[in-house]
Amino acid sequence: MTRLWDRNEPLDRLVLEFTAGEDHALDDRLVAYDVRASAAHAEMLRAAGHLSDAENGAVQRALAEIGAAHARGEWRVALEEEDCHTALENRLTAAVGEAGARIHLGRSRNDQVLAALRLWLKDELAALAGEAEGVAGALDAIAARQGALAMPGYTHMQRAMPTSLAGWTGAFAAEIRDDAAGLLAARRRADRNPLGSAAGYGVPVLSLDRALTTRALGFAAAHEPVTAVQLSRGKAEAGALFEAALLAQDLGRLAADLCLFATAEFGFVKLPAALTTGSSMLPQKRNPDLFELVRGRTGEATAALLELLAVTAKLPSGYHRDLQLTKKPLFRGLDSASAGARLLAHALPLVEFDEARMRAAVDPSLLAAERAYRMVVELGLPFREAYRRARET
Ligand code: ARG
Repeated sequence: MTRLWDRNEPLDRLVLEFTAGEDHALDDRLVAYDVRASAAHAEMLRAAGHLSDAENGAVQRALAEIGAAHARGEWRVALEEEDCHTALENRLTAAVGEAGARIHLGRSRNDQVLAALRLWLKDELAALAGEAEGVAGALDAIAARQGALAMPGYTHMQRAMPTSLAGWTGAFAAEIRDDAAGLLAARRRADRNPLGSAAGYGVPVLSLDRALTTRALGFAAAHEPVTAVQLSRGKAEAGALFEAALLAQDLGRLAADLCLFATAEFGFVKLPAALTTGSSMLPQKRNPDLFELVRGRTGEATAALLELLAVTAKLPSGYHRDLQLTKKPLFRGLDSASAGARLLAHALPLVEFDEARMRAAVDPSLLAAERAYRMVVELGLPFREAYRRARET
C-alpha cells in the first residue's frame, strides 16, 4: 500500500500522473519541515496520552533519521506516494511499526501541508531578505570605495542634474533594503499554526493541544478558527510573491542601468571578462548577458503571483486539490528572485566604474537649475524669471 487512502483498488496510472503531477518532486523541499511538524504533532499526541513515551521516543528517533537520510539524498518522494506527507508516514511506519501507524491521529494532509509550507516560507523569506541585504551591502561597498564620483542623473533618459555614484548606489540600496523589510513583514500571514485544524473542521472526540504544537514550531499563534485555515491557503504565499516581485523589479532596474552604463556610448562601467559572454559571430563582442537576464527575469515572480492568485480566486471554501497548484508558482517565483539577488551580490564587486567617462558626461548644461536657484537666493528673483535667465546663459 503506497497511498494513505489506498483500498487495494488499482489507481489509473494516467490519473495518478495527473493528480500527483510534479507535486511529489516539489515536495522534496518540504520534507525537512514536515519532519519538524510531525515531531511536534507526535509530542502533542504523547502529552495527550495517545502515544506512550516509548512510542513517541521511537517516532522522534525515526523521524530524525528519515529526515537526515533525505537530507543526504538517500531517498526522494516517489510519484506513487503522491506527496511528502505520505512518503514520511510510509517510512515512519516501516521503521517503527504500530507507533508510526498512530501518528496520523488528529491531523490531515490538509493541515500538514500548510504547516510544512508555512515553516518553509518563514525560513525562505528570511533567507531571501538576507540575499537582498547582500545586494544592498555590495552597493554600499561601491559607495564607500568610489561614491564621490560625479555622474549625470537622468530623467527621460536625458541628462538632468549632476549626481554621484553614491547617489545612484544609495537609491538602489535603500529600496532593496525596503524590499527586504517587506519580505520579513510578509511572514505575518505564515506565522499561524494550522495544526489542529485537520481537514479544515477540527477533530471529533479528542481535544488537541494546539498551544503545544504552536510553541514547539515557533508559530506566533494557533490559526483560529479552524474553519479559516483552508480559506487562507495561498495568501501568505501571495504576499511573499508580491514582495519578491518588488525585489525582482528593483534588481531588474539596477541591471537595466548597468546594461546601459556598459554600452560604448555611456562607457561608465567596464565588466571583467569573467562576467561577460561572447558572440558566436562577432569576435569583438563582450555582452552583459548576466544583467540582461536579471532584467529579463523580473517578470517571473509577478507571473508566479498571478498564477497563484488565479488558482485560489473563486474557489469555494474548504480544501480543494486545486490548492496543491499554489506550490509550483510559489517556489518558482521565490527561486527566481533569489537567483537574481545572489547573482548581483556576486557580480557588483567586480564591476569597474570609469571615473573619466562619468565626469565627462556631467556637462555644464546640467548646472542650469543650479544657476537658476543661485539667482533666486542671491538676487531675490522670482523662480520663473531666474529659470528664463538660466536657460539663456
Ligand atoms: N499535495 C496536497 C496539497 O498540496 C497535500 C494535501 C492533500 N490533501 C488531500 N485531501 N488530497 O494540497
